[in-house]
Amino acid sequence: MAEVILVDLVHPNCPRHKQCLEERVNKFLSSLGNGTSEPVYLILQQHAGCSEEINEAFVLQKCAGLNGRVRVLTDSSSVAVLYAFKQAADELNVRHVHVVTCNARRAELQECEKQLFTDLYTFTYCSVLDYSSCPFTQLHTTQLTQLKEQISGFLQRLPALRGEITVLKSSLISDCFAHGFTTRTGGISYISTLGSLNLFSSSRRRDSRAVVAENLRRLALHAGFQPQQFHLSKVNHGSDVWVMNKPEPENYDAIVTNQQGVVIAAPGADCMPLLFADPVEKVIGVAHAGWKGTLMGVAMATVNAMVREFGSELANVVAVIGPSVGPCCFTLEQNSARNFQAIHPDCVRDAESPMPYVDIRLATRVLLEKGGLLPEHIQDNTVTNRPNLTLCTSCHPDSFFSHVRDGLNFGTQIGFLWIKKPHEFEQSDP
Ligand SMILES: *[C@@H]1O[C@H](CO)[C@@H](O)[C@H](O)[C@H]1NC(C)=O
Ligand SMILES: *[C@@H]1O[C@H](CO)[C@@H](O)[C@H](O)[C@H]1NC(C)=O
Ligand SMILES: [Zn+2]
Repeated sequence: MAEVILVDLVHPNCPRHKQCLEERVNKFLSSLGNGTSEPVYLILQQHAGCSEEINEAFVLQKCAGLNGRVRVLTDSSSVAVLYAFKQAADELNVRHVHVVTCNARRAELQECEKQLFTDLYTFTYCSVLDYSSCPFTQLHTTQLTQLKEQISGFLQRLPALRGEITVLKSSLISDCFAHGFTTRTGGISYISTLGSLNLFSSSRRRDSRAVVAENLRRLALHAGFQPQQFHLSKVNHGSDVWVMNKPEPENYDAIVTNQQGVVIAAPGADCMPLLFADPVEKVIGVAHAGWKGTLMGVAMATVNAMVREFGSELANVVAVIGPSVGPCCFTLEQNSARNFQAIHPDCVRDAESPMPYVDIRLATRVLLEKGGLLPEHIQDNTVTNRPNLTLCTSCHPDSFFSHVRDGLNFGTQIGFLWIKKPHEFEQSDP
């Protein structure tokens, strides 16, 4: 189901409520072509002195000719109504929304659209419900701020889905750092493949920036950092590193810093989030590494930036490979797989099949060891004396998002890391 009609019957500050409602329903019905078959969602406002159920029954009766493809949405605010509408639309996989409204409401609805939806959805607005008393006005700055606050307040009050936030930690990263790898529980994203702690917003997926920002706020509260201090690596599948005291490049898959309290993070949803820490010079790095980034050498590029920019010694750097797609589930075309065979023959299984299985984690370990890291300073799925964080994202649907498993509208987990400030260190040191 690709298209729906959203009819906004709210008429702000109109004293002729019942009569106005009837006129608006009539206007909408006569504007509707006879050939349409899209589902219709009607937004009704709650009106003092006029019970909502009476309105709803009245409107449904007037729309009886639409043969049950009408649903009424009533709620206390436009934000709540549009959020309920989005949930219904997502269930139908809607991409396009025809909005029927009046000029007086358009700016507010458009702003809600911008905040709660992404570019995956298209909206067209038609003002057939207009009266001459309905001029189009842009929202003032204060109205805009209020609306944004209403949206964030609304999202903050939503219950966590799929349980609590759970963060996995490595015992290899020493106590002067705080870190973790997120799992998929404890956020508010309700779409099955994004639910619930999706931490990456993309215009091609169904989670809006506002929802991802709320998920991040909840993670920050849980982990003890400030969302304003949070920097997530981009996803470019290359090997560029942002050295944080230098200007931010346009594209990069890794970040390094020696600044205390600044939280750096790398996303992954099969791709590996990698964390690097040097407890001697107090330098940290994160990298996003999929198969392309692995071949481009993003892991050693990150370590080399720590060495070059902040004086880390290779023998002091530890590396942790986070949840990622395992060699059990990840295949590549033969040509690409050959590049992994060149790193180490054990990186590829069934090398002669058209789609051999590839172990991007082993390739990362081999490249890091070749680069000078100590084997015991690398944590991956082969290490038995530490908690196993390098679980297969594709094999563990209850814990992790996975692009390979879930397709285009996939959620994203992250690995995050920061250098504690002295007071944080004392607090957590028994
Ligand atoms: C829909 O059909 C009715 C009766 O069949 C007709 O009177 C009306 O003009 C049509 N409306 C549109 C918009 O085509
Ligand atoms: C860690 O988990 C992965 C993926 O589930 C598994 O393949 C691996 O054997 C585990 N490692 C250890 C040491 O148990
Ligand atoms: Zn697997």
